[in-house]
Amino acid sequence: KISLKANIGKYRFNNVLLNAAGIRCATTDELTKILHSTAGGCVTKSATPQPREGNESPRMKATPMGCINSMGLPNHGLDYYLKFAEENQDKNDNQVILSIAGLSVDQNLEMLHKIQDSSFTGLTELNLSCPNIKGESQIAYDFEAVRDILTKAFKFFKKDIGIKLPPYFDLHQFDQIAAVLNDFPIAYVNSINSIGNGLVVNADTESVVIKPKGGFGGLGGDYVKPTALANVRGLRLRLKPEIAIIGTGGIKSGRDVFEHILCGANVVQIGTAFGFDGVSIFDRISKELKEIMAEKGYTSLDDFRGKLKTL
Ligand code: DOR
Repeated sequence: KISLKANIGKYRFNNVLLNAAGIRCATTDELTKILHSTAGGCVTKSATPQPREGNESPRMKATPMGCINSMGLPNHGLDYYLKFAEENQDKNDNQVILSIAGLSVDQNLEMLHKIQDSSFTGLTELNLSCPNIKGESQIAYDFEAVRDILTKAFKFFKKDIGIKLPPYFDLHQFDQIAAVLNDFPIAYVNSINSIGNGLVVNADTESVVIKPKGGFGGLGGDYVKPTALANVRGLRLRLKPEIAIIGTGGIKSGRDVFEHILCGANVVQIGTAFGFDGVSIFDRISKELKEIMAEKGYTSLDDFRGKLKTL
């Protein structure tokens, strides 16, 4: 009997697959569909303190290899997602992960205070990697800024927190972010957010394909899988064992999930491909992953997690 159960510390997931924050998870209707699916839980659209319209349209474009987006955090505001999370938390090992993305340190701390004072007992995912806010940089590329916000947050925040990271590209960056994160009681990191500020060009129309920021936007899908695997592996080799890893980036098959777990992922999230397929993707990918495990004689994810071979 093959099991796809997973956990992050004491939080149990009845299936290793989740949606990635931002994809089909902005309304309670979409979130409920995910909770009722084969997925092991849902992640809410990254919230800001107040509801936000986001950037101008068109702001997302699918391509044969994935997608580019510059949504700009359109969301219903923290209160909306916190209420959903409180009402739906921890039913049948289906976790609700509450994602937040303040536009400043103060906004993040304000939201963490609200979560601390609420009845929510699940995981909060602090998104320090949104690439699409005009004039703002991705916080987690500034290692001292990450240390500053975590120092301030852990003074009062006693619940469990994960950090959504951007992709890193230099091994020295892996060393630096790991050195910061290892100083805090973080439950998990989630690698990766979209690869920020890519540019998709349409040669026929001689134009960019999305409107905000002159066409620059975050890449997801096939473009990002090797970068995502490098970040999962690179961080697993550097983070203390108490910090779990959620692998996100380029997953569209059971084989992709298998690769993320070999690199050390405890749980995985599906963004672009879930956007294309909807909740049926969790059935298909679960089935594909079980077939691969059956062929190899594995019965649990622990049998191969982190066991990637080098040459
Ligand atoms: O690619 C992304 N798009 N990552 C984020 O963190 C936020 C989102 C958006 O709303 O722009």
